[in-house]
Amino acid sequence: MNHDGVDWAAMAELLELEGETHSPYVRQAVAELADLAPRRVLDIGSGPGVAACRFAAEFPAAEVIAVDGTPQLLARAEERARRLGVRLHTRVAEFPAGLADLPSADLVWSGQVVHHVGDQQAVLEQLAALLEPDGVLAIVEGGLPARWLPRDVGFGRPGLQERLDAAMADRFARMRTELPGSVRVVEDWPGMLRAAGLTEACSRTFLVDHPAPLAGAPRRWVRRCLERQRAMLADELAAEDIATLDRLLDPADPTGVDHRADLFHLTAKTVHFGRKPRS
Ligand SMILES: C[S@@+](CC[C@H](N)C(=O)[O-])C[C@H]1O[C@@H](n2cnc3c(N)ncnc32)[C@H](O)[C@@H]1O
Repeated sequence: MNHDGVDWAAMAELLELEGETHSPYVRQAVAELADLAPRRVLDIGSGPGVAACRFAAEFPAAEVIAVDGTPQLLARAEERARRLGVRLHTRVAEFPAGLADLPSADLVWSGQVVHHVGDQQAVLEQLAALLEPDGVLAIVEGGLPARWLPRDVGFGRPGLQERLDAAMADRFARMRTELPGSVRVVEDWPGMLRAAGLTEACSRTFLVDHPAPLAGAPRRWVRRCLERQRAMLADELAAEDIATLDRLLDPADPTGVDHRADLFHLTAKTVHFGRKPRS
């Protein structure tokens, strides 16, 4: 299914690899919720269910429901749950309309999804409305762009990743303005959670640090990200940067990302929490 022009089903493998590459942060975020014993957990925009399966493992007594608009991704989440031996339910829903029909929960998690909906404040209010009293809404937004390469990779113009970030940020801004019902808002996530009626709003940031030399899975993740940026930004980057990317992506080039000993993955994921008042 396509939302906001993205073919999410085609991104299944990439999303699962992304979740696995970043996975320690979900466990760290759950550790922030030591006082929570949820009976039901909703993972809104679960994709292939990496976080949802983590919740199912962390809270075996809870009913964990992975919710997404892309049935192919939910099928992958079910497969993952079977493989890991955890109990997971799935539900197809299109946001924002489909959120109203979901059951209430003690933990509502939504990772990198709110920014795909036109009116972010309105969707936070819908997510907050799903909470049981004392329940927690956790959204993953912001954080830091990833770093994979030295500033100077030995060829091309140094500082490639900063230029890729800038071009991706422009694309992101365009994507936001083109969403149906797009509303511009100051993206002060804790402030927005408070405006949605939640208390104890706070942000926690978790470092994801895979130092060089990279093992197989995170290395594949970096390759897939660079391939994607190469395809998305072909019209926006300078010819010299395209040539650098092509060399980095050439499987036969010993200085390419498949072989470089200096390739690393460093990023930070930010989770914003808010709690529904008891009354
Ligand atoms: C960037 S992925 C995030 C996946 C996962 N939560 C994570 O953190 O890795 C966004 C997910 O939201 C879903 N999604 C995006 N817009 C949606 C919409 N309008 N309705 C339903 N699902 C949507 C996509 O199918 C995709 O699985």
